[in-house]
Amino acid sequence: MLEKFERYPLTFGPSPIEKLSRLSAHLGGAVELYAKREDCNSGLAFGGNKLRKLEYIVPDAIASGADTLVSIGGVQSNHTRMVAATAAKIGMKCRLVQESWVPHDDAVYDRVGNILMSRVMGAHVELVDEGFDIGIRESWENALADVKAKGGKPYAIPAGASVHKFGGLGYVGFAEEVRAQEAELGFKFDYVVVCTVTGSTHAGMVVGFAKDGRQRNVIGIDASATPAQTKAQVLDIAQKTSALIGGKDISEDDIVLNEDYAYPVYGVPSQETLQAIRMSARLEGMMTDPVYEGKSMQGMIDLVKKGFFPAGSKVLYAHLGGVPAINGYSYTFRNG
Ligand SMILES: Cc1ncc(COP(=O)(O)O)c(C=O)c1O
Repeated sequence: MLEKFERYPLTFGPSPIEKLSRLSAHLGGAVELYAKREDCNSGLAFGGNKLRKLEYIVPDAIASGADTLVSIGGVQSNHTRMVAATAAKIGMKCRLVQESWVPHDDAVYDRVGNILMSRVMGAHVELVDEGFDIGIRESWENALADVKAKGGKPYAIPAGASVHKFGGLGYVGFAEEVRAQEAELGFKFDYVVVCTVTGSTHAGMVVGFAKDGRQRNVIGIDASATPAQTKAQVLDIAQKTSALIGGKDISEDDIVLNEDYAYPVYGVPSQETLQAIRMSARLEGMMTDPVYEGKSMQGMIDLVKKGFFPAGSKVLYAHLGGVPAINGYSYTFRNG
């Protein structure tokens, strides 16, 4: 589906699929859980979902003659860490706006994990005191203007690399990759569980799985706590991405977004999220984070317990990365 688009490799290749036998058994054994380890997809600064998106954005950045990648996220944004790594890898400068998206206090929150790595990789990091919003931000536009004013050539990458003309392509490729892995495994997954915030991961999967009519089996777990905006953004990106690649028509009903696990707000884990993080860590040695994957893990566990997935279902949890942010929650996990 993506043959006509140029791709700059940033990942190792297909990410592994791992069976979560102990977690499945712990939850009763009626549903078989698997994880697609997008968190282990690259040697670039711990990898994760954004690299799959950036693979289709980098050729455009290089062709534009830019010398600086400019992006935005929260203080512990995984996305900005991956833009910093990408800039280092392709020999560009990097300018990052890190907003105060999360009402979370930890003594080391703005000095460890993702932001630490972005600084070490040479990015110019600017902290801005603005709250959570997945849309286009003034602070980001100011940063773009500032790079220009100083004689640089910026290339704009929006939050999560989502609202970018090529932002949805990477996860169309994910669906193609899963289809190839299913052929090797000899079975098909009945559901894919994905954490959704800025939307292009979920949107790309919807377009990719629409090819064989499975788009409504992609279960988005909202972690934004602004689900109406997130759902609208997923639909918009999916429709534009599908038009770009000549895919199937995508309607609102194709976007399945569960709103039940994002509470209390973006970036703040509930007690149930913390329990889910500990459960997958203690049964599988698989780490998830308090902002994104802990919430989708919580959602998947709860949906299994509630019988949402029919007995015998094979469920693929898309592990999108994000573990470095857990360092910013050192006090929360001080006793494990
Ligand atoms: C670890 C992790 N999981 C999930 C997401 C959500 O992906 P998207 O922003 O494409 O909806 C992100 C980024 O926002 C992330 O960093």
